[in-house]
Amino acid sequence: MKILLTYDLLRDKFQELEKRYDVTVPEGRSFTYDEVYEQISSYDILCSMFDFPVDKKLIDKATNLKLVANYAVGYNNIDVVYALEKGITVANTPDPVIAPTANLALGLMIDAARRISELDRKLRKDKNGMHIGVMENLGSQITGRTLGIFGMGRIGKALCKRARACGMNVIYHNRKQLYQDEETKLNVIYVGFDELLEQSDFLSLNAPYTKETYHVIDEKALQRMKPSAILINAARGPLVDERALVNALKNNVIHGAALDVFEFGDYPLPELLELENVVMTPHIGTQTLADRYEMANAVCNNVIGFIEGDRPVARVLKP
Ligand code: GLV
Repeated sequence: MKILLTYDLLRDKFQELEKRYDVTVPEGRSFTYDEVYEQISSYDILCSMFDFPVDKKLIDKATNLKLVANYAVGYNNIDVVYALEKGITVANTPDPVIAPTANLALGLMIDAARRISELDRKLRKDKNGMHIGVMENLGSQITGRTLGIFGMGRIGKALCKRARACGMNVIYHNRKQLYQDEETKLNVIYVGFDELLEQSDFLSLNAPYTKETYHVIDEKALQRMKPSAILINAARGPLVDERALVNALKNNVIHGAALDVFEFGDYPLPELLELENVVMTPHIGTQTLADRYEMANAVCNNVIGFIEGDRPVARVLKP
C-alpha cells in the first residue's frame, strides 16, 4: 500500500505506518495542493490535514485512491459525497477531539461571561491600580442560566455534561431529536431553532460545517437572540455571518461572543479585534500536545484498520 501524508507532524507517532507500508511525507513542511495533485494517482491512501482541500478535481486524479484519512473530526475540507460515490472511504478522528473541544467551549463561555480575558487586559493596562469596587467589573451569571446547544453530537453532549455540572439548564437543537432515554440521561430539552435563539442565555455552536449550517447565525438569527446573550463558536467559522456578528456586537443586539474559529480563514475580521466584548482564540480546540498525539494515533489506527481489518475505522457516512 502506498500512503501519502500531506503534512510532516509528530513523525514518531507515524512510525508504525512507516515501518509497515510505503509512506511519503513532506520533510519538515506540508505538501501544497499542486504537489499532491501531481503525485496522487500512484497512491492508495491519502492522510490529509483538516484544511487541505480534497475536492472533485483531486479525487478525479486519484485513480488508485481507496482511503482519505483526515486529521480532524471535521471533514468540510473533503468532498465526501463525491469520494463515497467513487468508492473511496473517508475516515476522521472523532474520539480524541470530543473532550478538548468541549473543554475549550466551556472555557470560552466562562471567559466571556465573567470577562476574564478583558479584565486581565484591563488589569495589566491600568498603571494607577484598578478600582475594585463591588459594583465594578460585573459579569454574567452562569449557574441557573440556560445554555443552548446547536448540534447535539458527541461534542455537544460532552459540553452539555460540563454545563450541567456548572448548574446550567440545557436546551438543544439538532437535525434529529435524541431518543427520550438519552435526553433524560443528559437532562436536556429539545427545542425548535427559533426557540433555541430566543431562550438561550449562552448559545454554543457544535455542529459540522455543511451547506445547511452555513451562516446559520446570520443577522436574522442574531436579532432573535436575547440582548444579554453570549454566542460561543468552537466549531467552524462559516456557521456565523461574521460581518453580521460584528454589527450585532457593536449595536448591543447581543452581549458578547467567544470564538475559536473565524469565517474568513485563520484570522478574525479586524473590527472584532477592536471590541472588548469578544474573546478569541486561534482555533485551539484540540491544541494540546497530548491531544495532538491522540489524533495522530487515531489517524494511524484508521489507516491500519482499513488495510488489515484488525481494528475499527472511524468511517464518515454519507452526509
Ligand atoms: C478540529 O477542528 C477538528 O475538526 O478536529
